[in-house]
Amino acid sequence: MTNIPAGRFITVEGTEGAGKSTCIQHVERWATSRSISMLCTREPGGTPLAEQIRDILLETRTENVDSLAELLLVFAARAQHLNTLIRPNLEAGKWVLSDRFTDATYAYQGSGRGLNIQQISQLEGLVQGSFQPDLTLLLDLPVELGLERARQRSQPDRFELEQEMFFEKVRSGYRERAAAQPDRIKIVDASKSPEQVSQQVLDILDQWLAGIG
Ligand SMILES: Nc1ncnc2c1ncn2[C@@H]1O[C@H](COP(=O)(O)OP(=O)(O)OP(=O)(O)O)[C@@H](O)[C@H]1O
Ligand SMILES: [Mg+2]
Repeated sequence: MTNIPAGRFITVEGTEGAGKSTCIQHVERWATSRSISMLCTREPGGTPLAEQIRDILLETRTENVDSLAELLLVFAARAQHLNTLIRPNLEAGKWVLSDRFTDATYAYQGSGRGLNIQQISQLEGLVQGSFQPDLTLLLDLPVELGLERARQRSQPDRFELEQEMFFEKVRSGYRERAAAQPDRIKIVDASKSPEQVSQQVLDILDQWLAGIG
């Protein structure tokens, strides 16, 4: 029987419609089956203030949104989320699962918008210190397939209205980060059937837990 360690932080990443919300459900069921108490949250957002910032970020608007302003809003929301929700729960021994975190900032604002990676890294240091997720599941699939899945579901938000080229850059950004940090970021082939994706997620979780338990 694997020993369950306390207070682990797992994040789920990927482009629009990749299957993040579906994956979150798999992780939640997996945790429940092992009697792991886990808080499920998301970024941008997770607290009332951070959710208000999320609304500002996702709202479609005629005014051009400055990329640096967008970056600062993302990190403002993250500071609130991290310091008032994520850290206190981890310190209390709970596990925390977040639909997106800082890898998304590198992928969207860095690779997608073309913002300076050094600047993102500086803000990351300011807001997080050395804090990082323990495990990140990256749902990777061809951009068009994800957008098709997302489109079938809801009205596009400000990010979903971006051109395909933007999401190609985001996808590349995510994959580069996964290649650079293979111990933390595990790639899931999200183009496969729901059953196959679910199996990949469970295999990764079991292997990872065996390594840390
Ligand atoms: N492996 C899969 N194959 C086919 N369809 C899938 C698969 N996984 C999820 N879907 C469907 O695709 C749609 C998007 O999935 P989901 O909501 O999990 O993605 P998401 O990454 O959370 O999307 P968003 O970026 O909009 O939050 C949903 O309708 C879901 O049922
Ligand atoms: Mg989702």
